[in-house]
Amino acid sequence: MKDSFLNYFSGFSKLNHFQRLEKLKAYGLISKEDISYLNQGVTEPHLAENLIENVLGYFDLPLGVAVNFIIDNIPYVIPLAVEETSIIAAASKTARWVCSNGEIKTQKLGSFSTGQIHIAQVKDFSRLKKIIEEHFETWKQEVHKNILPAMVKRGGGLKDYELRSIKRPDGKQMAIWHLHIETCDAMGANLINQVCEYLKTPLEEASQEEVTLCILSNLADKRLFRAEVILRNQDPVLIKKIEEASLFGEMDPYRAATSNKGVLNGIDALLVATGNDWRAVEAGLHAYACHSGQYKSLTQWRAKGRDLHGVLEGPFMLGTVGGVTDLHPTARLGLKILGHPSGERLARISAALGLVQNLGALRALVTEGVIEGHMKLHIKNLALKAGATEAEQPRLEKHLCRILKNQKHISFSLVEKTLRAWRAGGSNTEKNL
Ligand code: MEV
Repeated sequence: MKDSFLNYFSGFSKLNHFQRLEKLKAYGLISKEDISYLNQGVTEPHLAENLIENVLGYFDLPLGVAVNFIIDNIPYVIPLAVEETSIIAAASKTARWVCSNGEIKTQKLGSFSTGQIHIAQVKDFSRLKKIIEEHFETWKQEVHKNILPAMVKRGGGLKDYELRSIKRPDGKQMAIWHLHIETCDAMGANLINQVCEYLKTPLEEASQEEVTLCILSNLADKRLFRAEVILRNQDPVLIKKIEEASLFGEMDPYRAATSNKGVLNGIDALLVATGNDWRAVEAGLHAYACHSGQYKSLTQWRAKGRDLHGVLEGPFMLGTVGGVTDLHPTARLGLKILGHPSGERLARISAALGLVQNLGALRALVTEGVIEGHMKLHIKNLALKAGATEAEQPRLEKHLCRILKNQKHISFSLVEKTLRAWRAGGSNTEKNL
């Protein structure tokens, strides 16, 4: 079985788009109708072929916008590509609350990305340190000339370094050379990796140490951004509860993971909508959430009299030029909706969005809970999934909302049952359900 399976797919990547689809059809995984569906994508098929391997088509995500955001006194409509009900509604509603009663401010705390050059078993750490000190300026000039000339023109480049050592389980020592690189409006992953790989050989030759690997670090703690929310003159009971919910996430990793998932609900959706690598930002933010030694919520909220103050700080390694941001037409549109922001501005918007999204979740959690708001929107999905027609939908949704209010729970089987009963018994059945 294993061999025939592997044989069947041998050379799959060499096939063209149509051959690949035919091959999957012949294997029984997709139908003729699936092929027509996959081929009706609106985005150019060539683009996908250039981005990934073994392309079949596109996976569409809904694209929406969150409104009501005024960040650093600049109004934004924020594009979000996401499948989860109520993220956009919650972000827009919370942003209106914040911007009508307070403000959202952001700050850049640093702009250097980190590249790592790893020496698994360093022979002489002090000597390595001395060699790097002696050669750094020369190597920097070479990197600027050969790898980063355009970046240097824009104000970027290799700015600084740090040499770290870690004791290994076998008692030996590993050395890690960190390169701090400014990549301006680019996310910069390829550039950082190129710089690290370029410096591998001169480092090995000068130090007689053996480099094990070179790669950027997603824990970009020299590329930090901070967002702050101030909400004035609020109900003291409500804001105290939000502070308590915040403390829960600051003290308990189980809660922190869920709180941070909510923070990332908006951030990821914005990163997808602007063609950014959301896995990179996710990894960085989760790692940063551990920087005290314990995994914590990325946000903190405090009640100060009748005011509520919130803060989010974390690494945002993203860009608005290069890669998918330039290539994908929907990502270009996303950036256009945002007013063509710089990389720094997009990072500020992301941090602000994450903080506001978190406030929306905490407010819901300490008041009515998330189910009511979420389910109201989810009811639409359930009605659709149960096969309600356009004509049946409004009445069905209204009816289900009433049930939700009384029973605090709606299941798909109930939606199906309601619809079946209606269709069988006419409109009077509603009263009997
Ligand atoms: C759900 O997508 C996100 C929340 O769980 C976030 C939170 O608990 O803070 C509601």
